[in-house]
Amino acid sequence: MPSAKKNTIPLHDAHFAALLADITTLAVDAIVNAANTTLLGGGGVDGAIHRAAGPELLRECRTLGGCSVGDAKITAAYRLPARHVIHTVGPVWRGGGHNEATLLADCYRTSLKLARENGCSSIAFPCISTGVYRYPADAAAAVAVAACRDFIASHRYSCRIIFACFSEKDVRIYQKLLVD
Ligand code: AR6
Repeated sequence: MPSAKKNTIPLHDAHFAALLADITTLAVDAIVNAANTTLLGGGGVDGAIHRAAGPELLRECRTLGGCSVGDAKITAAYRLPARHVIHTVGPVWRGGGHNEATLLADCYRTSLKLARENGCSSIAFPCISTGVYRYPADAAAAVAVAACRDFIASHRYSCRIIFACFSEKDVRIYQKLLVD
């Protein structure tokens, strides 16, 4: 007998999955890059995406004029199996009293807006800001899931959203949020 709780899971929950994955391997319509404001590459997932996409990605990024924190820009994906890369810039964690949660939610919203405008029906996000930028993983995941749920529901956007986690710990954090 299914529990009452299961029966009341909103329909849009079917759009979400948390996977342990190197985001550069995912053949989705768009992968999201946790970039910096220059959009000219860096370490972490940014470095991995640029290495896997090849030098043409940096060439296109040079034409974009950078990106503000919370904003997003889209490029081709070159040698990656994805179709597009959406570059967004997360906030640096400075204790939580510097608008970090709003700026992080903006990253997810602006990325999904671009994905929708470009006809994407699948998108993979890394755990934005939780590496070099030191945003606590639990708090960041809660912001990510809430922002994506809200966008999908309010825009009636039918898109598969994958949270591409780079550790088992992050997968567990997301899986717990997605069933709650
Ligand atoms: N696939 C999926 N996730 C990954 C991968 C990968 N291949 N590699 C790392 N992660 P970070 P940030 C995870 O530091 O905190 C760059 O230098 C990683 O384990 O990449 O937003 C930029 O240029 C962590 O969970 O991004 C910026 O300067 C998550 O991706 C700065 O770092 C984010 O870690 C951005 O810092």
